[in-house]
Amino acid sequence: MEHPLTWPVGLDALAFGGDYNPEQWPEEVWQQDVRLMREAGVTMVSVGIFSWALLETERGSYEFGWLDRLLDLLHENGIRVDLGTPTVVPPAWFYREHPEALPVSKDGLRYEFGGRGAICHSSPAYQEAAAGITEQLGLRYGSHPAVALWHVHNEYGVPVSACYCETSAAHFRRWLADRYQTLAELNSAWGTTFWGQQYNRWDDIRPPRTTPTAGNPAQQLDWARFTNDAILANFKRERDVLHRLSPGVPVTTNFMTALSQCESLDYWAWGREVDIVSNDHYLVAEAPRNHINLAMSADLTRSVAGGKPWLLLEHSTGAVNWQPRNLIKQPGELARNSLAHVARGSDGAMFFQWRASRFGAEKFHSAMLPHAGTDSRIWREVVALGADLGSLSAVRGSRVKADAAILWDWQSWWAQKLEWRPSEDLDARERADAWYAAAFDRHLTVDFAHPEADLSGYPLVLVPALYLMTEAASLNLQEYVAQGGTLAVSYFSGIVDEHDTVQPGPHPGALRDVLGLTVEEFAPLRAGETVRLTGGGAELTGDVWSEFVVPRGAEPVWTYADGPAAGHPAVTRHTLGDGTAWYVSSRLHGADLDTVLARACADAGLAERELPRDVELVERVGERGRYLFAINHGSAGVQIPLPGAGVELITGQPVGDRLDLPANSTRVVSI
Ligand code: GAL
Repeated sequence: MEHPLTWPVGLDALAFGGDYNPEQWPEEVWQQDVRLMREAGVTMVSVGIFSWALLETERGSYEFGWLDRLLDLLHENGIRVDLGTPTVVPPAWFYREHPEALPVSKDGLRYEFGGRGAICHSSPAYQEAAAGITEQLGLRYGSHPAVALWHVHNEYGVPVSACYCETSAAHFRRWLADRYQTLAELNSAWGTTFWGQQYNRWDDIRPPRTTPTAGNPAQQLDWARFTNDAILANFKRERDVLHRLSPGVPVTTNFMTALSQCESLDYWAWGREVDIVSNDHYLVAEAPRNHINLAMSADLTRSVAGGKPWLLLEHSTGAVNWQPRNLIKQPGELARNSLAHVARGSDGAMFFQWRASRFGAEKFHSAMLPHAGTDSRIWREVVALGADLGSLSAVRGSRVKADAAILWDWQSWWAQKLEWRPSEDLDARERADAWYAAAFDRHLTVDFAHPEADLSGYPLVLVPALYLMTEAASLNLQEYVAQGGTLAVSYFSGIVDEHDTVQPGPHPGALRDVLGLTVEEFAPLRAGETVRLTGGGAELTGDVWSEFVVPRGAEPVWTYADGPAAGHPAVTRHTLGDGTAWYVSSRLHGADLDTVLARACADAGLAERELPRDVELVERVGERGRYLFAINHGSAGVQIPLPGAGVELITGQPVGDRLDLPANSTRVVSI
């Protein structure tokens, strides 16, 4: 490829394979593994992710023989390797030497060795040892012909992100000194005059450990930022070693952008540091329509990648083993899930893991090769998927076409989740999910965008949950609307600045001008209480939240008919410059949220799509053509219109301007 650091070296197909942990098996089994990998069409596997204890058996004693043999075997069989740095599980000998590198919880408990990811990211001993094993791997395999991609660590940020030990405390103080320079600045940013929390010496500052009552919110928010930065620094250290020793081979680390799966990392910052963005996604098995969360995670990952293709490094062929009830996937669901990630920009579909383990904590987790062996439904579906992906090589490098953007900011989410908000029912993630689902059900493909990003390419921008907004974000949205954009904002957005300090003047400080209104008083609702919203051609029902909206240029479209804010506008529309800004001041669901969204779409000039509800339609556009991914999640076959004739790539059949989409199927039309 022309851009060597944007794609695994030497991989000339979509990535298909999984985590391969052959160290759990006698070497005779490896031969069978590669034979079956070839049968399934596997193109790349991730190896060595948890192998530190086998590679460095005591400090400085290395045993690379098995990995040499494994990489050679994979290479001889044409399977590319995503090679892990095993720094997510330091060996037992490391903790014997450095028990202080085990992380400490918020309430002072020191975690033990015996699981995984027990790391204090501020520990100099950990940092040195991790860089050391990475250096050894880089030296030995930096130019090995099998190595296509480096996989640093595993899912940074889980299962433990912050460590509250004394070493971390000292590191936090250095980070704060860098951020604020003076204690006066820090005291002002943290609002320490409240509850007498003034600091006169840097040494008095601690991590926000368990306090008798609500802790200082600005301190907690900075702690979350510090934790993200400390972990990111460790990624960068390993990445830089690999760039030096393995030039030309891209470096990734697997994210978990689904908002339910990793909360502690600001992936906007991480996306800028990796060569290739990669992601892991696991369905919430029991959730109805869980493919919507899959789509959301894929869209978020692509957005973190700046729209470039990304890689799905892990999902499951069937049940996981860590949810309360681990439901299997229905026939066909495996392919629909994998291809939905590809539709939304992944240039491959990889799994955890290749062969189901017989021992250890994850022995009941599904795999590409299940305990049942090859005479199994899962294996047959895996082989079929390999063939499907083989026929989709042409989509590689193409880009997803989005209709709208949703603003998302991890830092705002961290801030909103802190204690003592006006209602415990205010839930940023719930609103992000709800608005995303509403867009999904209108068949809109959305990008996610940082609030300060250039939004000018989007006719519609949705803001479901943006409690914290900087001045730059506020100006960005004003400019976006004034230039002709359509904005739709949900309640409790634009309330505080980056220090969790309420913006001066009436709420919502950062959005007053663009929305053309002020909020005189918040009026949260009782548990289960609903309010009626009238006007706008249809009566709507809200719950959780209402407020005293005072229009200052905005036009009321729906008004509260009852509840504490009766008589106040509930949903408003404001014209500013060439654009329009909608405000929704109560929590709306399903069809009611859709009613308002439909109005915003009309303002944005986004036409309705006549498609069945359970059909997902996403377009990727590349130099060689347009690829329309149509996924039918429903149990009945349907026919959908196409914008032109073409060839269906999975079946190889020509298609006209209508496409038959059988139940539970995926079709990809090259137009
Ligand atoms: C992932 C992890 C894998 C495996 C998998 C099981 O989060 O990276 O190592 O544990 O979950 O679902």
